[in-house]
Amino acid sequence: DWSMAEYRATKIAEIREQVGVGPDGGKVICGLSGGVDSSVAAILIHEAIGDQLTCVFVDHGLLRLNEREQVETLFREHYHIPLVVVEAEDRFMAGLAGQTDPEKKRKFIGGEFIAVFEEEAAKLGGADFLAQGTLYPDVIESVSFTGGPSVTIKSHHNVGGLPERMNMALVEPLRELFKDEVRDLGRELGLDDKFVGRHPFPGPGLAIRIPGEVTKERCDILRKADAIYLDEIRNAGLYDAIWQAFAVLLPVKTVGVMGDARTYDSVCALRAVTSTDGMTADIFPFDASFLTGCATRIVNEVKGINRVVYDYTSKPPGTIEWE
Ligand code: XMP
Repeated sequence: DWSMAEYRATKIAEIREQVGVGPDGGKVICGLSGGVDSSVAAILIHEAIGDQLTCVFVDHGLLRLNEREQVETLFREHYHIPLVVVEAEDRFMAGLAGQTDPEKKRKFIGGEFIAVFEEEAAKLGGADFLAQGTLYPDVIESVSFTGGPSVTIKSHHNVGGLPERMNMALVEPLRELFKDEVRDLGRELGLDDKFVGRHPFPGPGLAIRIPGEVTKERCDILRKADAIYLDEIRNAGLYDAIWQAFAVLLPVKTVGVMGDARTYDSVCALRAVTSTDGMTADIFPFDASFLTGCATRIVNEVKGINRVVYDYTSKPPGTIEWE
């Protein structure tokens, strides 16, 4: 029986004890994803040890619209937490060129992410500790997002594998918490409801929502469609009723007509599901008029898309992401 205020105070004391404070205290590095878990972990650790913490955010070019700017504003301007933003888009796009196999895409992104992170840690002169936003479900079931324990449906990308390679001790202040408790702790630390209630976003980012080859141009198209879809969902007051909603850009072109001209452009799929843990999911039953509105806006406002379809597949047999 404990409150989040108590949890916060207890964890701050533990972090100070583990890392040490003042001139003899250790240096901590934390990889931010832009998501709730790593953000809450970083804010809590900064409260405990101040600028002994440095955060690193890798912009791999696979982020959603304005996501990097939101992280910069939150950490630099609001919390005054030291933040290094690594511009790595060109590097990721170069490595993704010509790659169409989903597992190869995932493996490349995971490996490259670790390489970039290690280089930045070296530039910072190394660190004694690596902070991670690991939650209790990650501790008890490391394959929690796959279809089953024995078969790897999709290789998981977070910063897994990083600690062993980097020879740093781990600081994981969220290890006892479930997702909803992390959200409570985030609120306790001053994060607003809009931030703590954000839908999950996968480590490999937009790359697994662009079946086939990923290019900067296709990421830009997808970012626009996705932002319109989420904007419509928020305006309709449906965001919090949905576990996850996003757009997917298909490697298929179809013929359309706009004004009196023929078009030949890409198809965009919209996905929205309800779920409690991501292991199983049901499709969100939008009204037809809502989807019509989204389709109209996307085709009118996003150059490169001339057709929109809705994904009616539950999990199983479909996965939530398309790759
Ligand atoms: P699937 O597509 O397997 O996704 O039904 C289940 C949940 O996991 C998320 N997901 C990931 N999250 N790294 C992550 O941090 C990943 O590599 C990854 N792949 C999928 C997905 O967005 C959904 O919430």
